[in-house]
Amino acid sequence: MNKILVLHGPNLNRLGRREIDVYGKLTLEEIDQALTEKSSELGVSIECFQSNHEGSLIDRIHDANGKYQGILINPAAFSHYSYAIRDALAGTGLPMVEIHLSNIYSREPFRHISIISAVVDGVISGFGLEGYLLGLEALVKIIEKR
Ligand code: DQA
Repeated sequence: MNKILVLHGPNLNRLGRREIDVYGKLTLEEIDQALTEKSSELGVSIECFQSNHEGSLIDRIHDANGKYQGILINPAAFSHYSYAIRDALAGTGLPMVEIHLSNIYSREPFRHISIISAVVDGVISGFGLEGYLLGLEALVKIIEKR
């Protein structure tokens, strides 16, 4: 069975309590639960990991080869400045989809650029939980085509 690594970047552990007007009321646990349900519909398994630390995310990315067939990632604020996460992702050669709960293009100018986007297969931004579910579905299709 194909296995997918779901990575959540900094501050996403505070979803449901943080800037509810921007990110909505769902908690990260609820997002992970919805992804787990979707994964069984899709016939894959997922493992979810959140960290506020760049190095911890990088360690999980380095560890992904051979264990997972794809990565679904919301790099959160790291999207805008972490060349280290970008390089780690690029180095895996795995199929990857980048997710943002909010529409980063309708927000502050510093959010309009994600330096991660160039190294992933696709990006979904602005659809909240739905984006994660669509992203997982797209990722599974990419994996199955490879
Ligand atoms: C985010 C958007 C980022 O700009 C922000 O730093 C986040 C969350 C999103 O999911 O909309 O923490 O990645």
